[in-house]
Amino acid sequence: MGKFVVANWKMNKTIKEARAFIDEFNAKLPKKYKNWCICAPFTCVFAVFEGLKSAGAVGVQNIYPQEKGAFTGEISPQMALDAGATWAIIGHSERRNLMGETDEFLAKKVKFALESGLKVIFCVGEKLEEHGRLKTVLKAELKALKGIDLSGVVIAYEPIWAIGTGRVASIEDIKRAHLAIIETIEKQNGVTPVVLYGGSVKSSNAGEIMALDEVGGVLVGGASLNADEFVKLIEIGGKYESK
Ligand code: PGA
Repeated sequence: MGKFVVANWKMNKTIKEARAFIDEFNAKLPKKYKNWCICAPFTCVFAVFEGLKSAGAVGVQNIYPQEKGAFTGEISPQMALDAGATWAIIGHSERRNLMGETDEFLAKKVKFALESGLKVIFCVGEKLEEHGRLKTVLKAELKALKGIDLSGVVIAYEPIWAIGTGRVASIEDIKRAHLAIIETIEKQNGVTPVVLYGGSVKSSNAGEIMALDEVGGVLVGGASLNADEFVKLIEIGGKYESK
């Protein structure tokens, strides 16, 4: 089925721009590719869902861990599902750092999203100054998944220093981090997780990254905003077997 290729549009695209992307994407993507997901801003989720002509998935980039109520500015998993999303990114470093989301709060979000029927892309990754104690940092972040049934969860390793910087982690760095994540989750949850790599992925570097056995796919920001580039990434992922 191919490795899992996920677009994280972040805070980009109006509805009109999302529709233009989807038109081009529909025209260019061969129908055989099914293991991909577009995580759009909330305002575009329904337009993306409605416009897609092939069998991938749509996701959101955050949720609040309550079904409804007095939570101004927030969106529930139920609302995301209603708009056509089946995946949610949780714990992206931009939310951890800009919005101050804690490990404890993220654990609540993961649990509630799964209970509500969404699947989860859970992000972890170290800051540049933490690179020397990578394993410890990853282990601490992965604690949020303790005791959770991971059948609807994939983990994304995104070194913060590689996000949007053009500075992709080396193949050795990626292997080391993915193995550390796999080992930690095997010990903690008793299952082998699918681990995506994220951080300045584009079609020119995705081939060698997705060729790694420890890499289950990619989470792509900047390069996913361009339909032609995103199709290329899905085609690269399609050359490999998914786990
Ligand atoms: P980038 O973002 O591909 O622009 O580096 C990746 C991400 O933050 O998910």
